[in-house]
Amino acid sequence: MALQTEQFNANILRNGEWVESRTGERISISAPASGVALGSIPALSQEEVNDAIQGAKDAQKIWKIRPIHERVDLLYAWADLLEERKEIIGELIMHEVAKPKKSAIGEVSRTADIIRHTADEALRLNGETLKGDQFKGGSSKKIALVEREPLGVVLAISPFNYPVNLAAAKIAPALVTGNTVVFKPATQGSLSGIKMVEALADAGAPEGIIQVVTGRGSVIGDHLVEHPGIDMITFTGGTTTGERISEKAKMIPVVLELGGKDPAIVLDDADLKLTASQIVSGAFSYSGQRCTAIKRVFVQDSVADQLVANIKELVEQLTVGSPEDDADITPVIDEKSAAFIQGLIDDALENGATLLSGNKRQGNLLSPTLLDDVTPAMRVAWEEPFGPVLPIIRVKDANEAISLSNQSDYGLQASIFTKDTDRAINIGKHLEVGTVHINAKTERGPDHFPFLGVKKSGLGVQGIKPSLLSMTRERVTVLNL
Ligand code: NAP
Ligand code: G3H
Repeated sequence: MALQTEQFNANILRNGEWVESRTGERISISAPASGVALGSIPALSQEEVNDAIQGAKDAQKIWKIRPIHERVDLLYAWADLLEERKEIIGELIMHEVAKPKKSAIGEVSRTADIIRHTADEALRLNGETLKGDQFKGGSSKKIALVEREPLGVVLAISPFNYPVNLAAAKIAPALVTGNTVVFKPATQGSLSGIKMVEALADAGAPEGIIQVVTGRGSVIGDHLVEHPGIDMITFTGGTTTGERISEKAKMIPVVLELGGKDPAIVLDDADLKLTASQIVSGAFSYSGQRCTAIKRVFVQDSVADQLVANIKELVEQLTVGSPEDDADITPVIDEKSAAFIQGLIDDALENGATLLSGNKRQGNLLSPTLLDDVTPAMRVAWEEPFGPVLPIIRVKDANEAISLSNQSDYGLQASIFTKDTDRAINIGKHLEVGTVHINAKTERGPDHFPFLGVKKSGLGVQGIKPSLLSMTRERVTVLNL
């Protein structure tokens, strides 16, 4: 598909058919980097959302009783098609969310790997048997058979920054365990998400097991989340949206992966070269638009000058430009986001931060910005920029770093850099986050590791096995012999 000339005016998948919305309304999607029109998606009405949920409900009755091998085979076929189509889908991701070309294609391959691993792990999802006399006074003639059951219809809502990967990482575990899925992609990212679903349909997905609903989250989001036909919600996105979802979803399980303000804590005995390269890659890849990006550095005073010099040298080597050219720094998702990031930089500079690099802006393309001498009085010390800006906060010791780290509302991940692993493990125990990385940047993968945020960074756990568990429940049969 030559995207510059040929637009993708997507339809929605409804009960196995690609159809137009009855509203006739469409939302145009253009490329954040070039402004080129990429295509459009239907804006669904609430009635059409109801139809999608009903279709998923009907299909689930049949899908859940299919042999697990049939579901596993579908996932394998889907992964193979994604791999085959990685260039074309990757190119669409590149245009639609301004992701550097190699990363965009890599997102598709990584997705295929997640799907295959999910299929394999699903085959190992066993129940258990419990004997009554394991409990005091219980009878040995009672035996509980504990099996895992799908929950029903899973609502999967994904964000713009991984439009294929973070969608498929929800859809695959849901389907393989016998649930059906209503998939609501981020509007900017929908075209890529729909291409990913096209591969699933082409791989032979039975009618109705995957339903796509498109439209602005602000218009159809509440209706979806509050719909009585939804049995579980798996969401990745911003904290404000996640909080709203958790308030509105009543009596159904919800898994939320939300925003972050991941710190890198650098102690006086750290390997400063390794630390700087991990921090720069962690902070600036995909222009900082990753929940797991390093979003603040706490460095001990005694090594701060050297670390900052190392980081600055690497930041100045980052290329700034277009996703097609595989630039390190590409335009952020939209003007609104760029203005927000610029506001954080301006606030820091007005309040005494030292600009070491960057602070140049052309529309939504911001140069990588490094700020030193940031203090807790500045917004950038606390707010998530989701852009290419890194604040350095100098601290006197590890305790100050722990305290500042924990004062954040967020609690996704943290990195600790030191040669003393015992010290790092001990500090890690005091950090209010889901995961601590020692001597490496914060990141989600490898994708079978549990992935979670605490506080305002999330609820529940993703990762391959945790996702399978979160989308199933126990079914207990008690035998009385
Ligand atoms: P977002 O604005 O919260 O949107 C996420 C999804 O929610 C989109 O599909 C959006 O649809 C939908 N939505 C919006 N309002 C809704 C509502 N009332 N009810 C239901 N759904 C609604 O987030 P984003 O801008 O795409 O992503 C950036 C944020 O996500 C950052 O904060 C980042 O840290 C976080 N994130 C977290 C993780 C993680 O794993 N922890 C991963 C990636 C991103 P529309 O696009 O149509 O508005
Ligand atoms: O943006 C949030 C993603 O879950 C982060 O994944 O660490 O692989 O970039 P990543």
